[in-house]
Amino acid sequence: MKKNFILIALLIATCGVFAQSTVFTLDVKKIGAPVQPTMYGLFFEDINYAADGGLYAEKIKNRSFEFPSDHFMGWQVFGKVALLTADAPFERNPHYVRLSPSGHRDKHTGLVNEGFFGIGVERDAEYRFSVWARGVQGTSKIRVQLIDSKSQSEQQQFASQDIEISSAQWKKYEIRLKSTQTLPKAELRIYLVSPNPADLEHVSLFPVDTWKGRENGLRKDLAQALADIHPGIFRFPGGCIVEGTDLNTRYNWKNSVGAVENRPLNENRWQYTFTHRFFPDYFQTYGMGFFEFFQLCEDIGAEPLPVISVGLACQFQNGLDAHVPVAELQPYIQDALDLIEFANGDVSSVWGKLRAEMGHPAPFAMKFLAIGNEQWGEEYPAHLEPFLTAIRAKYPEIKIVGSSGPDSEGKQFDYLWPEMRRLKADLVDEHFYRPEAWFLAQGARYDNYDRKGPKVFAGEYACHGRGKKWNHFYTSLLEAAFMTGLERNADVVQMATYAPLFAHIEGWQWRPDMIWFDNLRSMKSVSYYVQQLYATNKGTNVLSLTQDGKPICGAEGQNGLFASSVLDKNTGEIIVKIANTSATPQKITLMFSGLKKKESIKGGEIITLHSDSQDAENTLDNPTAIVPQPAVFDFNGKTFDSEIGAESFVVLKFKK
Ligand code: AHR
Repeated sequence: MKKNFILIALLIATCGVFAQSTVFTLDVKKIGAPVQPTMYGLFFEDINYAADGGLYAEKIKNRSFEFPSDHFMGWQVFGKVALLTADAPFERNPHYVRLSPSGHRDKHTGLVNEGFFGIGVERDAEYRFSVWARGVQGTSKIRVQLIDSKSQSEQQQFASQDIEISSAQWKKYEIRLKSTQTLPKAELRIYLVSPNPADLEHVSLFPVDTWKGRENGLRKDLAQALADIHPGIFRFPGGCIVEGTDLNTRYNWKNSVGAVENRPLNENRWQYTFTHRFFPDYFQTYGMGFFEFFQLCEDIGAEPLPVISVGLACQFQNGLDAHVPVAELQPYIQDALDLIEFANGDVSSVWGKLRAEMGHPAPFAMKFLAIGNEQWGEEYPAHLEPFLTAIRAKYPEIKIVGSSGPDSEGKQFDYLWPEMRRLKADLVDEHFYRPEAWFLAQGARYDNYDRKGPKVFAGEYACHGRGKKWNHFYTSLLEAAFMTGLERNADVVQMATYAPLFAHIEGWQWRPDMIWFDNLRSMKSVSYYVQQLYATNKGTNVLSLTQDGKPICGAEGQNGLFASSVLDKNTGEIIVKIANTSATPQKITLMFSGLKKKESIKGGEIITLHSDSQDAENTLDNPTAIVPQPAVFDFNGKTFDSEIGAESFVVLKFKK
């Protein structure tokens, strides 16, 4: 009897706790720090086939026959095909092929390209085929076809056209192939169909319908996905790729500009960084280079944030002897200065002129430059300092982003932050790929950061589920929860970019990632929607939102709730973001304070991101399994009661 009584008493007490509403106070008069326009952006790195085979719309792999271990990698050759270099049209990509008659009427000469995990084509879409070619011993002719080599039908080809190569001089030839099929894994076949040989170089196939219709263009669905985030900042080109495995393979921005045919190939370090995800055919053509990057930033309204090498090779993979001695850094420093000139310089300057010749005489108005990726140790500040001196002397307006190393805390982090303060870096890049527990514990991370030092760039982060390294819902929810702390601390955190951005479903090295794709389809992960909800509801100023006078950051007694609030001065909206990371619905009472007697708050829109399963995710086959659900709600008053569903992220929009 006594036992039952205690049990009933306990149940009542527990129900009481659940029934109780958590009271949040939102002070509409306490308008806080401005939210920087650079908040919530993109981190791009050519990892997971993000550029070649991904965003860069080129469909031909090894188009210039330069893959060093095998110049025919990606190609099947038949008949008489020779690899030559003599009298090549592009000195930095010197190899080309000669197709010669087989010597027999029924034997054929030609080559087939497999694309990146196949060539994705769509029915009725047009594809721009181009090739640099010359006739040998007179006019020659090639036949260009889209084929389905696995087809059981009478013919493998479903688009075919001939090109007459009329000149003995190197010349660009172009045709359009219209596909009669939708096929994710087509191939491109080229036959020699004349008695005269033909030389071919830079064999290229792009969809005509690229992003903004550009010839050396980007895949439209992927670029659109970036635009739809409305990013404030765009970091490029990485990541470790900035450093390379060694300095020879670092990203050299100067190789990524100018005529696309003459941009030399680079080894992609993600080819072999992980032996458990090994891709010997992963190279960088630099087809999507720094010009294309600046242009894309302009298209989508993001501030460009280039990252360049500080003269340190990847410190995970090299000893001290692999780096450039500080005394020999000048060429690297010059690269940095020249990049600023390429972006912003007058058309009469060397690099400004090249930008103009590439089609953009107006400056790109670049404002930020990051120097070094995940660097650490005493060598980093020692290398960084001469860059700072030179850049500040010539371009004092450029804001410099330094690094706090690869870890979110610990020895290197604790050493580098004071160093960045000493060197007066404008922002410091922090990286955290961390498990659930870390994200749950870091809601207040920035509440006590130094307000006078460099600002924070949360430059690479993602919740990596323990034992579950994929894009499942719960990790995205925890990112949303953590980001309330970024938002609340807008005076300190001024840029944030989830990482990595893209992954080809057949070619990834690293996950989770924000956007997945195959050759025809793409899918936005739940983390994408989290980023988008923040970026499109970032407001202009922080508003004070507290529970018992304290920030709502998943602290003890806060029932797994994280929340922040902003005002949008342009629209008058008060936007409240709440993440309920707990497994039970939570009642909240939102008390609006600072209102005049006759003033009240009106509803509103509510956008909810939720899944009944922590492990659920969007997939290419079901890309909209978990998407934000918008709804409207009526409210007019000063105290708003609501229930936030278990494991849900909500964005509430009010107006005064
Ligand atoms: O985003 C993948 C890698 O993670 C980046 O290249 C590097 O900066 C970090 O270690």
